[in-house]
Amino acid sequence: MAGSPPQDQLAHLMAGYWYTQAIYVAAQLRLADLLTDGPKAADELAPATGTSARPLYRLLRALASVEIFAEDSQRRFSLTPLAECLRSEVPGSLWSMAILRGGLQYEAWGQLLHSVQTGQSAFEKLHGLPIFEYFQQHAEDGKLFDAAMTGVHGRETAAMLDAYDFSDIGTLADIGGGNGSVLTAILQKYPAMQGILFDLPGVVERARANLEASGLSDRCRVVGGNFFEAVPPGADAYLMRHIIHDWDDEKSLTILRNCRKAMGGAEKLLVVEGVVLPDNQPSISKFFDLAMMVLPGGMERTEDEYRRLSEAAGFRLTRIVPTKTWISVIEGEVSSA
Ligand SMILES: C[S@@+](CC[C@H](N)C(=O)[O-])C[C@H]1O[C@@H](n2cnc3c(N)ncnc32)[C@H](O)[C@@H]1O
Repeated sequence: MAGSPPQDQLAHLMAGYWYTQAIYVAAQLRLADLLTDGPKAADELAPATGTSARPLYRLLRALASVEIFAEDSQRRFSLTPLAECLRSEVPGSLWSMAILRGGLQYEAWGQLLHSVQTGQSAFEKLHGLPIFEYFQQHAEDGKLFDAAMTGVHGRETAAMLDAYDFSDIGTLADIGGGNGSVLTAILQKYPAMQGILFDLPGVVERARANLEASGLSDRCRVVGGNFFEAVPPGADAYLMRHIIHDWDDEKSLTILRNCRKAMGGAEKLLVVEGVVLPDNQPSISKFFDLAMMVLPGGMERTEDEYRRLSEAAGFRLTRIVPTKTWISVIEGEVSSA
């Protein structure tokens, strides 16, 4: 697109939802899973997906034009590297995120104007309750969300482990640890480390099974609760990945102060987030920032904003460790009683 006339560039950006919805329908129909055993024509896929062959062909052809599926000379479609990520059961699968982005999130983004006018979550306006309460009341969507987090943020875990040395941490608490995939990866890399997984009660129940399946139950305590009330004491470091960005400053301060209260004084605070870059520098964090406004009602922050927030909660930022992905480990230590 770069180098083409401005009208073409803008028109391309304006059509963003075409791609979202085409990918969403491909995910709903589980087309990538159906192609796992080899290429198939739309005629063969239509009965298995409850669709009509010709419109299904048109969907596949459009997706093949952006390298999701490939069409051969006999009009059969096969998987491409992008389509592989749409399979539901592969490591790093984006299937759950495709369903979430094209469904629940898409509906909320349709109300972006409301968020820009009020600064409030469009999701909450649409559903009448905050997103994490919605997920507690709709367990299937909650499960989808947990899996989508692992899919979309999964690669960040390996990048974080490459960039940041956790070796001096005896017990690590993952606050808002979701389905436990981040803590599992850290405990697997550091066999002497103990873990505490903390999240809402319904979420940790789902995580418990994952930890058992990974053989880590004896090294990891699972605690259900609400980080606006308290977080468990007894860890040497408190990790929060993609937690603070879900909330406005007031709520973020409550979470950080509750971490501070759980600490004696020598512990580390590890906030793992994308740091918004200054000026016009391209960064996905600037669009994640809009997503945070529309969905939970939170925000992405600059380095300075993280520094000020941490200081207000009784921490001093010690360093920001970048990773190969868009996230950084923002490390802090206790600065005041
Ligand atoms: C954006 S997800 C991040 C999950 C995980 N840390 C990751 O990086 O994949 C936010 C997490 O915060 C949890 N959460 C939301 N409100 C909470 C609360 N009041 N108390 C504890 N956890 C909460 C959610 O259940 C969810 O797992």
